[in-house]
Amino acid sequence: MRNRGYLKPFVKWAGGKGQLIYELESLCPASCGRYFEPFIGGGALLFDLQPGNAVIGDVNSQLINAYLQIRDRPDEVIEYAERLDAVPCTKEHFCEQRDRYNLKIASGTLDAECAGLMIWLNKHCFNGLYRVNRKGMFNVPWNRRAKVRSVDPEIIRSTSEYLREQHVEIRNADFEETCSDVKSGDFVYFDSPYVPVSVTANFTKYAADGFTMADHERLASFVRELDRRGVMIMLSNNDVPEVRRLYAGFRIYELSVARLISCNGGGRTGEEVVVTNYDGRRARCGTPAGGCSLKFF
Ligand SMILES: C[S@@+](CC[C@H](N)C(=O)[O-])C[C@H]1O[C@@H](n2cnc3c(N)ncnc32)[C@H](O)[C@@H]1O
Repeated sequence: MRNRGYLKPFVKWAGGKGQLIYELESLCPASCGRYFEPFIGGGALLFDLQPGNAVIGDVNSQLINAYLQIRDRPDEVIEYAERLDAVPCTKEHFCEQRDRYNLKIASGTLDAECAGLMIWLNKHCFNGLYRVNRKGMFNVPWNRRAKVRSVDPEIIRSTSEYLREQHVEIRNADFEETCSDVKSGDFVYFDSPYVPVSVTANFTKYAADGFTMADHERLASFVRELDRRGVMIMLSNNDVPEVRRLYAGFRIYELSVARLISCNGGGRTGEEVVVTNYDGRRARCGTPAGGCSLKFF
């Protein structure tokens, strides 16, 4: 058993799966070919499972730059973030750093300093939100906390080692492109932005996070295509009629934030659902028959 140290997300991310990690892990298959996570965000499940030979992706270029810089230049990222942490934060200081970061975005400079800034802003902005205006400039306000430790150097170094040594491919792309080379026997976990709890007529055309109902339809047909090709699929979303319609015919597990409630059962309604195309309840029982185990240490 390898001891790579403790891994956990290096950013606080909207929709992060930290709270549901036990339930999600228990529904994952025991073994698979390659592991794919095309909506990686903070990567809670990836860092929990630590699969080897994985592919991760996201459309957020700044987030993907942070993964790449942590992989290749962990000490520089730590140094930039710690240098910023040394100064107690004020509104002025926060706005200055946000302006510096937006200059990096405007000039397309994706480097270790930009990753350090991005992580520092994530820990000093309201709720760790990542929101940009129409021009692509980051515009989340300060969380009014003067002293926050933005990085844990041990986690950054362990993350770097994991990404390098376990051959984790990192792609800045739409989910379909990230999954373009998925093969039969591979496992894909889809954690897209969620369908809102109440779908308004407006949402069909516009979504605050840019992922519209048309994208959800596109994702559902992509999932059906992968299912036909023999790929193992797990997907998270809100428990709303649109999601049940999109994934009718698959196994649907209802989750409350705290625990698994039932599989395809009527009566109690969970707050979220996990959709799989295999029997999730049996998935992690017994010894894997071949391929790679998903729990890699
Ligand atoms: C719910 S979050 C993922 C949370 C993640 N599982 C975690 O534990 O933090 C959804 C992610 O999808 C990304 N995203 C949005 N549209 C996308 C698209 N078309 N293709 C790939 N990623 C996308 C967002 O940038 C965001 O990071």
